[in-house]
Amino acid sequence: MRTHRAAGIVGTGLSVPERVLTNFDLERMVDTSDEWIRTRTGIQERRIVQPGQAASDLATPAAQKALEEAGVTPDEIDLIIVGTITGDMIFPSTACRVQRRLGARQCGAMDLSAACAGFIYGLVVAAQFVSNGTFDTVLVIGVECLSTIVDWTDRNTCVLFGDGAGAVVVRPVEPGFGLLGFHLGADGQGEDLLKVEAGGSYRPTSLETVLRRQHYIQMAGQEVFKFAVRIQGETCERVLQQAGLSSEDIDWFIPHQANVRIIEAAARRLGLPPEKVFLNVDRYGNTSAASIPIALAEAQQEGRLRYGDHILMVGFGGGLTWGGAVVRWSLGK
Ligand code: ACO
Repeated sequence: MRTHRAAGIVGTGLSVPERVLTNFDLERMVDTSDEWIRTRTGIQERRIVQPGQAASDLATPAAQKALEEAGVTPDEIDLIIVGTITGDMIFPSTACRVQRRLGARQCGAMDLSAACAGFIYGLVVAAQFVSNGTFDTVLVIGVECLSTIVDWTDRNTCVLFGDGAGAVVVRPVEPGFGLLGFHLGADGQGEDLLKVEAGGSYRPTSLETVLRRQHYIQMAGQEVFKFAVRIQGETCERVLQQAGLSSEDIDWFIPHQANVRIIEAAARRLGLPPEKVFLNVDRYGNTSAASIPIALAEAQQEGRLRYGDHILMVGFGGGLTWGGAVVRWSLGK
């Protein structure tokens, strides 16, 4: 078994539902306004699944696109990791359902729960297996159908979230490229700040949990905001230090797309100019684990990412969890 190979992203893909829900649509559902949502969050519209459409319905086409870009067939996949908090079922995992639909028989498959940090966690796990020579090809997907756990009567939360999927293929890349540094963190003390309380073994589903609306997202918005601003900056600085880079070396900052004000605060702290910050929160809202891989796939599709670029990614979310990674882009040579 070889060790310490460079591991990087060799394919990207995304899939979002067709249905668009605009801020003006939301004005007709709750006491809110397009102006409030745009100025507080930067969001203008989000994509929402149709009834009956589940996480695997978005994850599978995103994965197929990533595999196609990577030139990899499903039978070459060694492991599928799906970062999600809105999987198809409690079990089996969404990863197993995606495996079946891709026709990838010879591989492991698992879901990974780290809320909006789920993709970064998945990417780091994948890179370890590839770096240490255990696996050659790992498919990492971030997917959410947050519209299915949003309380559509709560204006504090329902305006923020959307649905979608992004995927990457992780494989060995040339030395000096791929994942150069990362940091993963968690603070379980903050569990009450962002949660869906019922439906698991802690509060099993009952008539009471349904009547108390405990199957929906509950969030202490201002506390999460303060945490996010602090942790994004700290995590990015740590990751850059680990990789021996400074913010001047960064060509693209691709952060979790939760709120444009949170993103701008991190960019200011790092001294990154707006033209290096990738934003699509205006079109998709917060898609949790899917937001970074969707942004990455869009940036790649639009031809913005060039061979040799340093890309800094950071995510934060319920748990509390956070994670950051810096990669040197090996596609487009
Ligand atoms: N429309 C109109 N008014 C609203 C809305 C709305 N949609 N939502 C809240 N308000 C009201 C509030 O009720 C409050 O009114 P009050 O002063 O009369 O009580 C007022 O607007 C201000 O509310 P704040 O909470 O102070 O607004 P703030 O500027 O903090 O913005 C927001 C709220 C956008 C939720 C912000 O706190 C935020 O972005 N927090 C982080 C959220 C986040 O990123 N969560 C996801 C983490 S990732 C994951 O794992 C899912």
